[in-house]
Amino acid sequence: QPRVFSGVQPTGNLHLGNYLGAVSRWVPLQDQMPTIFCVVDSHAITAGFPDRAELVNATREVTAAYLAAGIDPAKSIIFNQSQVREHTELAWIFNCVARMGWLNRMTQFKEKAGKNKENASVGLFAYPNLMAADILAYRATHVPVGDDQKQHLELTRDIAAKFNNDFADRIKELGVGVPNPTPSPELPEELYFPLTEPMIAGPATRIMSLRDGTKKMSKSDASDLSRINLKDDADTIAKKIRKAKTDPDALPSETDGLEGRPEADNLVGIYAALSGKTKQDILGEYGGQQFSVFKPALSDLAVDKLAPMTDEMRRLTAEPGEIDAILKTGAEKASAIAEPVLKDVRKIIGFLDVR
Ligand code: TYM
Repeated sequence: QPRVFSGVQPTGNLHLGNYLGAVSRWVPLQDQMPTIFCVVDSHAITAGFPDRAELVNATREVTAAYLAAGIDPAKSIIFNQSQVREHTELAWIFNCVARMGWLNRMTQFKEKAGKNKENASVGLFAYPNLMAADILAYRATHVPVGDDQKQHLELTRDIAAKFNNDFADRIKELGVGVPNPTPSPELPEELYFPLTEPMIAGPATRIMSLRDGTKKMSKSDASDLSRINLKDDADTIAKKIRKAKTDPDALPSETDGLEGRPEADNLVGIYAALSGKTKQDILGEYGGQQFSVFKPALSDLAVDKLAPMTDEMRRLTAEPGEIDAILKTGAEKASAIAEPVLKDVRKIIGFLDVR
């Protein structure tokens, strides 16, 4: 059975990359299959514990962004990760499935841990196992994310494959598997966990910093000018786009002409994603024009798209009762799916059940 799962960390500074690379792309999926969207607060403590109030506020803010972007609690399950214990329980089991060598290859750990790896938390190292647990606690089949999560999703597939293989006999004996939809010699006929498909597509899978077209737009960049935050007002958005780094040439009329021009490529990609068009469409309109023409157009478009969302986020977070009620209902619905999965997993493992 197809099911979408995705999530965002509540670590402040939700930005245009998170919106265009992930959240905005979730909206149409709600009408295609069951969808679960999580605010991954358990992940948000891996790089250090934020202030209590900061974590609470950021959790509500990400929820508000989901709602303001068009995630509908009547269609999707919306909840925060820490409220559904099955995530951390399954993550522990996956700590014992995944191999050190697999995690040692994770580039995001290397980036986030920096030079002093000895001092990184064990949680930061095991982070991808928790992410696999988020997805597989719902046996989710599709995960829409930005390009930077690709390696984590490959690890999720590796964990699912190893679990399915290592426990193939038990899965069969207990009758809890489903037929493998794409039979292959590497996998048993019956699977417990699906091999999740990443959904990484469109012109905005990797939005770059506005200050440096070779660096990803990120929540943690020291320069606020490097990103457009979903909380920025119209003037701030306009200023950041005006100051965005570019080169002196006019825009090309074909996408080939964007090669070797990362800043131009990025701004065209942002325009395309915001307008729901392709980069080629945008170059068809603006090819031959200077940035002095393109930037104000981009800025108007960004303000048009983002201002109503920002207003709605402000309204929702001002009185958090509505958000908290949505998260509570969501957690109950999420638990109802994850609990039976963990019951199966405990049985497969052989934990004595005395309750
Ligand atoms: P996070 O919180 O860093 O980012 C949330 C989403 O935004 C995407 N993204 C971007 N897309 C395009 N351009 C960018 N510059 C950019 N920056 C971020 C990310 O790819 C992501 O889709 N590990 C995840 C959260 C997570 C998760 C999960 C996701 C935890 N469990 C299970 C999917 C399924 C993360 O840190 O995302």
